[in-house]
Formats: sequence, C-alpha cells, structure tokens
Amino acid sequence: MRLLVTGGAGFIGTNFVHSTLSQHPEVAVTVLDALTYAGSRESLAPVADDIRLVEGDIADAAVVGSLVAESDAVVHFAAESHVDNALNDPEPFLHSNVVGTFTILEAVRRHGVRLHHVSTDEVYGDLPLDGAQRFTETTPYNPSSPYSSTKAASDMLVRAWTRSYGVAATISNCSNNYGPYQHVEKFIPRQITNVLTGRRPKLYGRGVNVRDWIHVDDHNAAVWRILADGQVGRTYLIGADSERSNITVLQDILRLMGRDADDFEHVTDRSGHDLRYAIDPTVLRDELGWRPQHTDFESGLRATIEWYKNNESWWAPLKDAVESRYEERGQ
Ligand code: NAD
Ligand code: TYD
Repeated sequence: MRLLVTGGAGFIGTNFVHSTLSQHPEVAVTVLDALTYAGSRESLAPVADDIRLVEGDIADAAVVGSLVAESDAVVHFAAESHVDNALNDPEPFLHSNVVGTFTILEAVRRHGVRLHHVSTDEVYGDLPLDGAQRFTETTPYNPSSPYSSTKAASDMLVRAWTRSYGVAATISNCSNNYGPYQHVEKFIPRQITNVLTGRRPKLYGRGVNVRDWIHVDDHNAAVWRILADGQVGRTYLIGADSERSNITVLQDILRLMGRDADDFEHVTDRSGHDLRYAIDPTVLRDELGWRPQHTDFESGLRATIEWYKNNESWWAPLKDAVESRYEERGQ
C-alpha cells in the first residue's frame, strides 16, 4: 500500500508515521507537509530513510495531484490547529483547512483514491459543564472559533464530495490529544515546559473548562481501524472516556513534577472559550472493535513529562517565541 500522509511532520501526523512504520512495515509512506511553524523535519529524522518527505502546500494542486496519483490512500492530517492562533489571525486557517482540503478532495476525486479526513470534536461546539450529554455522530455542527469553523467547513466539503462525486472518504472527529512531539503552544506541553524553564504554568480563566483527553497513539490506532475497515461515507467519533477540567490536569502536572498545587498563574481567558467537550465513542468500539490502550491518564501524562524532559533540544528553540506571543496577549 502506498500511503500519502498530509501534515505528517506535525504532532499527530509524526506519531502516525512512526507507528505506521513499526506496525505496518508493508506500507510505503510519503509525507506532504508545508513545514509551517508547527511542522518539524526533526520529528521525522528517526525515520528519514524509511519515508519520502515532500515539502509542499496542500493547497498546491500540482503537487497534490502528482502525489495523490501515485498513492492508494491519503490520510489527511494537515491543518492549522491552534485556537489561539486562529483568534489572532484566521486567514491561514481558511487557506490550509478549507482550500487545502478542497484541493485534496479534487485530487482524490480525479484519481479515484481512498481518503481518510482527520477532524476534531470542536466542530460540534461545546457542551454545558454539568450534565452527562456527549457528542455523537448525529450531534449538529455548531463550531465556535475560526479554527473549529474551518474544520467544520472541511468536514462538510468531504461529505459533499462523497455524496456528489462518490469520493471514497471517511471522517473522524477526535477529542484532545496528548503525547510526544506536541507543539509547546498547546496546553499540556506548554505547562510541562513552563515548569522545565522556570516559568509558572498559565491557566486560562478559572480552569473549569473540560477537555476529553486521549493519547495520540490511541487516536492513530483508531485512524488505522477506520482506514482498514471503516465504511465509506461514514463519520466516526474517537474518544477515550477521559474528561478532565483544565485545573485538574494542571495540578496533576504540578504534582508529577514535584511542584506545589498552587504554583501557577491565572491569565486572561480565551475569547469564546468552549466550556466542555465529551465524546461518545460507542460506534467505534462496537462496529470496529477499537479500544484505547492508554487508559491510565496519569501514567500517560508521566511518560509525556519524561519525553519533554529528555527531548529539550526538540522544543527549547521554540519556547521563548511562543511565550513572547502569549505574553503580548496577556496569556
Ligand atoms: P499540528 O499543528 O501539530 O500539525 C499540523 C501539520 O500540518 C504541521 O506539520 C504543518 O506544517 C502542516 N500544515 C499546515 N498547513 C499546511 C499546508 N497548507 N500544507 C501542508 N502542510 C500543512 O496539528 P496536530 O495537532 O497534529 O493535528 C493534526 C490534525 O488532527 C488536524 O487536522 C487537527 O484538526 C486534527 N485534530 C487535532 C487534535 C489535537 O488535539 N491536536 C484533536 C482532534 C483532531
Ligand atoms: P489547547 O491545548 O489549546 O486545546 P483546545 O483549545 O483545542 O481544546 O487548550 C486546552 C485547554 O486548555 C483549553 O480549554 C484552553 C486551556 N489552556 C490554558 O488554560 N492555558 C494555556 O496556556 C493553554 C495553551 C490552553
């Protein structure tokens, strides 16, 4: 199988490429990545001899067309992915998430290639803080931010191209990922590396917002299950039943890193901050037999902290610039 992985130099894509090479050695992997601020050639260095890495934009129809033509399937991770950046400057989100996905769709349509589109639970908007309601495949789309609205738009394009043109596509909407190689702008790596660089962790607002955490390897295992046995035209929700408030996660990090539970700062809240995300993963479990392996959040978090301790050369060059940008915004 010849697999084209867009965004394979980003957080989830990198982990997907690493796990694919070890678990599916028969697959020939090509990565298409623009190597934006969020992409890292270094993340793929350990497997550089085993893949082809093409530096290019998913909105470039010529590059995408030629790579798709020589692939059996595309797993589409490439996107602008950070809500705070989207609030600051939405334009790149329109370009990569909407025009980029459109360009991928046109190429898979022309060449009759299978597509798996990777998306987020944020397309459903948010849920009340108290209550048992969770997102399902039939929850209406109600995105809140420029990030989630452009991801919602990309999902809609995939659905339309499937119905109108018979494109063989599946979609997955996953909850918040954590694990190695995540950019230090995101919540968990930001707080770990704040502690490691002598800064105080930063909590938006009161920290009551809830996210449903999943280890990146569990997300990627689900993507493989869907790619292999998912039904074309379907959407699958991926989540590991692991809802936690931000303050709880932050205090876990502080405890595991030997700091006092109150050794952090409350900073300006995010505009339009979604309250709670929660995934009902029943369909994926029942129909495709997927189960998360990393069910102990604390041990996953401990391993992630160890990874950041042991890989300072990967994140240290990014850290000061990220913190300066946050400081300018009072965050
Ligand atoms: P990331 O920001 O770490 O990586 C994105 C990658 O895409 C980078 O390597 C970047 O260089 C590349 N990219 C961006 N624009 C591009 C373009 N125009 N052309 C080519 N490459 C481009 O993101 P991530 O956290 O790894 O997320 C990957 C996918 O998973 C995204 O589609 C995101 O919406 C989705 N997702 C993420 C999460 C999460 O918690 N991180 C949860 C659910 C879904
Ligand atoms: P983030 O990792 O940006 O993911 P998302 O917004 O896509 O869920 O943020 C996770 C949660 O953590 C979110 O509720 C915002 C919050 N947050 C902080 O409290 N402090 C921070 O420094 C960051 C980056 C996020």
